[in-house]
Amino acid sequence: MYRVASIGGDGIGPEIIDEGKKVLNAAGERFGFSIEWQDFPIGADRYLASGELVTEDELRDLRKFSAIYFGAIGDERVRPGVLEKGILLALRFYFDQYINLRPIKLLEGVWTPLAGKTPQDIDFVVVRENTEDFYVGIGSRFQGREKKELEIIRELYQVKFNLDVESDADEIAYQIGVITREGAERVITYAFDLAARRGKKLTSVDKANVLSDVYGLWREVFTGCAGSYPEVSTEFTFVDAVTMWFVKNPEWFDVVVTPNMFGDIITDLGAMIQGGLGLAPGGNINPAGTSMFEPIHGSAPKYKGKGIANPLATIWAGSLLLDHIGEPEAAGAVLSALSRTILDGVVTRDMGGQAGTRAVGDHVAGLVRKG
Ligand code: IPM
Ligand code: MN
Repeated sequence: MYRVASIGGDGIGPEIIDEGKKVLNAAGERFGFSIEWQDFPIGADRYLASGELVTEDELRDLRKFSAIYFGAIGDERVRPGVLEKGILLALRFYFDQYINLRPIKLLEGVWTPLAGKTPQDIDFVVVRENTEDFYVGIGSRFQGREKKELEIIRELYQVKFNLDVESDADEIAYQIGVITREGAERVITYAFDLAARRGKKLTSVDKANVLSDVYGLWREVFTGCAGSYPEVSTEFTFVDAVTMWFVKNPEWFDVVVTPNMFGDIITDLGAMIQGGLGLAPGGNINPAGTSMFEPIHGSAPKYKGKGIANPLATIWAGSLLLDHIGEPEAAGAVLSALSRTILDGVVTRDMGGQAGTRAVGDHVAGLVRKG
């Protein structure tokens, strides 16, 4: 028996999480385990009613579960950033989920915008660092000469670039990216382990040619780790270049490790080449703590309650969840049922089909049960 927390969240989140639960329950029936679900009413509605994002009690509570299954957050009634930072990032940081695992895999029968590329060509994993970089939330924005901070920034500019910014605009915003040796080491080691298991290559994505302090440290750590994995071939790429190669030669990639913000950006590109956001899952993993699984896409408020949202990314994230809690066979069965469902043509409109959200979930669950 597993206890799993579910957070439907906003927009289409609750609908797609329902389908995911249905499929995971079916996997439990077939493979002889059960899941006890507890739903947490976290999201925009509660925030608007009570001002609460995630409470201390909830954080303490969530720690007791085998995993968290997360739908989506984001709501037009709330200023951008409030729910994202106050809920999603808060959970990732609180539970120190330093791995953001995002498989980029084109399934059989799925359309990709890349002409001539097949499932053999698009099959890699992005390991995105998930707790550092520009996501640490250190920054400020201010106006007026009297502010001490403004003077400090001006001084920095003058020292570093010998610029006279006296004449510049007197409103400044800054945000700081942080990489720590420990933070880089743990995620890069995880990526090397994964690459060693997959038996191929690990690519580091950064921008060490410009942001040479933070990503210089990142590269140094990468090079240090590489020594312990002689069987894994390695390469460095710059993030701008990697966006070209993902499109032109996705078959070059096997495991890709990247700092947080570049990981955010390149995995939306990855999602598109694997058939769209409706198919892209992710896991926020703390190997020794509480992990959380979610689709990469957002809450798509305009489709809320229409019964047409694509639940496949969430179901796939459910497969990652099963794998994580120690049910790899069930995880595999969910992924093959998902793949079969696509081949059966039971897909939502975004994938060119006619099926509704529930019909897709029912179909996958049925196939999981049958085996
Ligand atoms: C993602 C999302 C989040 C991120 C947002 C919603 C905070 O874009 O999971 O990729 O930037 O990490
Ligand atoms: Mn993103």
